[in-house]
Amino acid sequence: MRKIRKREHLENYFRATYRGNTLLDDVFLEHNSLPELSIDDIDTKVTFLGKTVDYPIIINAMTGGTDFSQEINRELSLIAKAFNIPMAVGSQTIALCEDDECRDSFQIVRENIGKEGVVIANLSAQAHLDDVNIAIDMINADAIQLHLNPAQEIVMFEGDRDFRGVLKNIENIVSKVDRPVIVKEVGFGISKDVAKKLYDIGVRNIDISGSGGTNFIEIENIRSKEIDLSDIFSWGIPTALSLIKARELPKDLMLIGSGGIRTSMDIVRALVIGGDLVGISGEILSYLLHGGYENAKDYLDATIQKMKILMLLLGKKNIEELKTTKYKLTGKLKELI
Ligand SMILES: Cc1cc2nc3c(=O)[nH]c(=O)nc-3n(C[C@H](O)[C@H](O)[C@H](O)COP(=O)(O)O)c2cc1C
Repeated sequence: MRKIRKREHLENYFRATYRGNTLLDDVFLEHNSLPELSIDDIDTKVTFLGKTVDYPIIINAMTGGTDFSQEINRELSLIAKAFNIPMAVGSQTIALCEDDECRDSFQIVRENIGKEGVVIANLSAQAHLDDVNIAIDMINADAIQLHLNPAQEIVMFEGDRDFRGVLKNIENIVSKVDRPVIVKEVGFGISKDVAKKLYDIGVRNIDISGSGGTNFIEIENIRSKEIDLSDIFSWGIPTALSLIKARELPKDLMLIGSGGIRTSMDIVRALVIGGDLVGISGEILSYLLHGGYENAKDYLDATIQKMKILMLLLGKKNIEELKTTKYKLTGKLKELI
């Protein structure tokens, strides 16, 4: 059942046509005509989960558990290795209760990235503590992502209907596992209130995964014809809004800006308004499935080159400096803030 669902999610991702809005375009950055930098001075390295990565870009959670997803994970992890960037695997629930073979589709990520790279495990925030430890051990993960996806589950015909006790469960996991916990959304954003609740129980890493990119209400709508969900496709907190509000919490909260990150401008804006790193899922998957490994690698390469150009044009030589860039808000984002 889970294998079929995973396959349908991948297929329906490409059938989806609704274009949301991250509101990142409403972040205005000022051009600097006197950057006093050479492009060779631009340093994009960051420390993440105790390791140095070359770019603040995560290939974010998507897949695993089937032959087809093994191939996707194989190619994505080779890209992660080539750029020395972190990669998160898709939900490992499938590998906990189904055949052992499907574990290979997750383990290949660690094999390709090697022990010096960053690999992140993934389970539901409702997962049992024992399963969290199994998921971490399966790939010797540097951290575990626990996903919050009530909007996706509630519209899924076979999905969860009861979301009580999730915060307590996360608190228990955070206090008992020996790896960092990253709580993430799946494209509907995390509000400041929710981020504060997570912070107060000890969570120090949040991936806000806002709206404007992959839309699981639409993806589920394509899977089931029982009820037309098109009037709620716009649900969610846009990535830019979610990031700016979460950034008001203390500085020791590490934030990942994901949800609709596609271009170098998206990356730079997300880092300026509060992200310590960004996460990309759907866009790199599109390049991979439409044109293969080289195509996805070229996309990332060009995106990184443009990111460096933008850093130069802002006069910021490293990511720490980039994060101090002043910005102005326009349009709907300004209204909402
Ligand atoms: C095909 C597909 C499968 C996904 N599966 C998972 C998953 O298993 N676990 C998870 O936490 N997020 C999952 N996500 C959500 C992404 O990690 C991310 O939060 C979301 O897609 C928003 O980012 P994007 O707009 O860059 O795609 C999936 C996304 C896609 C496109």
